[in-house]
Amino acid sequence: MTEDLSTPKTLVLKAVGLSRHFEDGQRRVQVLDGVDLSVHAGEMVAIVGASGSGKSTLLHCLGLLDRPDGGELSVAGNATGGLSEKARSRLRNQCLGFVYQFHHLLPEFNAVDNVAMPLIVGKEPLASARDRARDLLIEMGLGHRLQNYPGQLSGGERQRVALARALVTRPVCVLADEPTGNLDRETASQVFELITRIRDDFGTAVVLVTHDLKLAERADRCLSMVNGRLSDSEILNDASAS
Ligand SMILES: Nc1ncnc2c1ncn2[C@@H]1O[C@H](COP(=O)(O)OP(=O)(O)OP(=O)(O)O)[C@@H](O)[C@H]1O
Ligand SMILES: [Mg+2]
Repeated sequence: MTEDLSTPKTLVLKAVGLSRHFEDGQRRVQVLDGVDLSVHAGEMVAIVGASGSGKSTLLHCLGLLDRPDGGELSVAGNATGGLSEKARSRLRNQCLGFVYQFHHLLPEFNAVDNVAMPLIVGKEPLASARDRARDLLIEMGLGHRLQNYPGQLSGGERQRVALARALVTRPVCVLADEPTGNLDRETASQVFELITRIRDDFGTAVVLVTHDLKLAERADRCLSMVNGRLSDSEILNDASAS
């Protein structure tokens, strides 16, 4: 276990020249225009950028939820270009976890069953899926909320449950799209600290899209999405200088 964590140079995501465009009526909008990104195990990379700059589009492509129209992407050492939809789903389920701004928990299931869901989808027997979900929720400080439904949880608690759901399959990388965007500063900071702890404890890589520059500067690296590409974040340097 410790040996795994001490090999932080394992590449979990590698994107080279990713491109993605959308047709908007007569107009062609080139949202991603040659994105290069390498993410190593146990690393937290923050991505900032203006609204509409393509951050979510990039996460969807990295997460195998959308197909880029050019470039190459490997996930956990697997080239994804020629994979069938089924193989992409399998790789997504085995290797990646997702957290969004809005928790997307299922309202009719309690915390344990929401977290157990990806394991059940992956064909794990119900009893052991629930055991693993329960253990993880306890580890994340939610032992007193196991049976609560999403409607009975605070915003911060819901995001922690969503984080547990993303992690229960032990993904090599979590892709988080403004996971703290809907929380007050104090709660956002707590959720961020939990993400940091997960990175440290499990060696999980995290790609974190955020508008919060104060959080972004606490990541290992911060990149900025400008003109469809990623570059070292000058926004952040400007922000900390002002
Ligand atoms: N399915 C789609 N069809 C057409 N255009 C799209 C589609 N998805 C995204 N876009 C366009 O791509 C651009 C980038 O959108 P994206 O959601 O990636 O931005 P973002 O950086 O995540 O913005 P925000 O910070 O507001 O979440 C926008 O101009 C958006 O309108
Ligand atoms: Mg977005």
